[in-house]
Amino acid sequence: MKVAFVASEAFPFAKVGGLADVIGSLPQALRKLGLKPTIFLPWYWGIQGYYVGEAWFNFEGHREKIGIGHAEHQGVRYVLVGLGDFARDKPYGYDDDFRRFVRFAMATAELLGDFDIVHAHDWQAALLPLLRNLGWFRARTVYTIHNLAYQGVWGSQDFYAWTRLPGETYYGAGLEHNGAINLMKAGIVNADAVTTVSPRYAWEITTPEGGEGLDGVLRSQQGKLRGILNGLDTDYWNPATDRYLKHHYDATDLSGKARNRAELLSEFALEDRPTLGVVSRFAHQKGIDLIGDAVDGLMGMGVNLVVLGSGEPGLERTFAWMASHLPGRLAYVQGYNEALAHRIYAGSDGFLMPSRFEPCGLAQLIAMRYGTLPIVRAVGGLLDTVKHWETGFMFDSMDAGGVLHGVSEFLKHPDRLSVARNAMQADFSWDKPAREYVSLYQQLLG
Ligand code: ADP
Ligand code: GLC
Repeated sequence: MKVAFVASEAFPFAKVGGLADVIGSLPQALRKLGLKPTIFLPWYWGIQGYYVGEAWFNFEGHREKIGIGHAEHQGVRYVLVGLGDFARDKPYGYDDDFRRFVRFAMATAELLGDFDIVHAHDWQAALLPLLRNLGWFRARTVYTIHNLAYQGVWGSQDFYAWTRLPGETYYGAGLEHNGAINLMKAGIVNADAVTTVSPRYAWEITTPEGGEGLDGVLRSQQGKLRGILNGLDTDYWNPATDRYLKHHYDATDLSGKARNRAELLSEFALEDRPTLGVVSRFAHQKGIDLIGDAVDGLMGMGVNLVVLGSGEPGLERTFAWMASHLPGRLAYVQGYNEALAHRIYAGSDGFLMPSRFEPCGLAQLIAMRYGTLPIVRAVGGLLDTVKHWETGFMFDSMDAGGVLHGVSEFLKHPDRLSVARNAMQADFSWDKPAREYVSLYQQLLG
C-alpha cells in the first residue's frame, strides 16, 4: 500500500502549530506498522532538500514548472513541491495564501500517480479529493480536518480563472458554500473518508455551535466521518531525554523537574509560588483573552504565569503590559521559541489551556508527559484526553470565572504529585491511533 500525505506543515521543516507535530510524527508510527508514507510539503524558504528534477502543471492557462526536491527525516521521505511563491520565510500569513495553496494542491496532484492512498490535511490540501474525482490521479482519498475554523474561502471568479476547472464543479462537486468557493467543504464532500483529530470534535462539528457553518454538510456526510485521537512523538517529547532540558526525569523520580522549575523561576525572576505555563498561538480559539480577563483573580489566588506565544497583536500588547506591571509574578515572551517551550513544559506546575474550541490539542498532552498538570476547558480533544482530578483539571465556563474555577480546583487538590505521576504514565503515543489509520486505509482499498 503506497500512502502519500499532503500537508502545509511538518516538524521539523515548517511549524506553526500542532498540524506540524502530527505530520512530523504519525508517518514514523505508520512505518512501524509496515507502511512507508511519503510526505508532500511545499518547499518553503530555508528547507534543506536536494533537487531531483522537475514536473509541470497547468495554472492560469499556462504550463508552469514545479521544482521537485527530496528530504528525509528519521527515515521518512519528503517530496518538496517547489513553486516560486512558497520561497518565503513563513508558511502563511500572506494576502495570496489562498492562491498559493490552490497552486500547491494542483501541482501536487501531478505527482501522485503512483499512490494508493492520498491523505490530505486541512484546507491547504482540501482540493485534492476533488481533483481525484475529476480523474487527475487514481488513489483513494482520506481528508483530515485539524481545524474547521480555517476553511479556505475565496471568490469563485478568481478561482476559476486560476484553475480552469469545469464550471459545473461549483455546485456539482461541492465547491460552493454561501456564494463563495470553500475548499474545506470540497474536501469533506469529495473524500472517500473524512477524519478529525478527536472523537469529541468529530461530534461537535456536526452541531450548529461547533460546525463553523459546515455542520449541515458534515451531518450529511456523517457516515464517512470519524474521530481519531492524535498521538505525540513520545521520543521527542520525553523529559527523560529532552535535549533542551538540563535536568532529566521520569515518573519514578521527579527531582529533575523540581530543578528545571527552580531554573525557570530564576530565568524570569519569579517568586516561588505555584506557576502556570502557557505555550500557545494567540488566536481567538485558544481563549488567551480569558486568561487576561482573569489575571487579577489569578494574582489574588497566589499563582505565577509564564506565557509564551504570539499572534493577535492586541493580546501580545496586553500580555507585555501585564508583564511589565507584575514583575515577579507574570512573565511573557512573545514569539515562537522551541527551546523555551520545552523549559516551560518541564518547569511549570500547571498548564493553562482555556480553549473556546479544540480539535485535539497537543500542548496539554505534552504538559501531561512532563508532569505539568493541564487546567483546560471541557471541550473537544481536551475532554477526550484530560481526566478531571486524575490527570488534570477541567472547567466549563468560557470566561474569566471558568479559568479561576479551574485554577482553584488545581490549587485545592491534596496530592498534586500523584496527579503528575498519573499524567506522565498515560499513553499518548501514536501506537493505537496509527493502527486506526491503517485499518481505515485498508477498508478503503477493500
Ligand atoms: P494548535 O495546533 O491549535 O496551535 P496544539 O496544541 O495542537 O494547538 O499544538 C500546538 C503546538 O505548537 C505544540 O507543539 C506547542 O508546543 C507549539 N507551540 C505553540 N505556540 C508556540 C510558541 N510560541 N513557541 C513554541 N512552540 C509553540
Ligand atoms: C489544529 C488544532 C489542534 C490540533 C492540531 C493537530 O491546529 O487547533 O487542536 O491538535 O491541529 O491536529
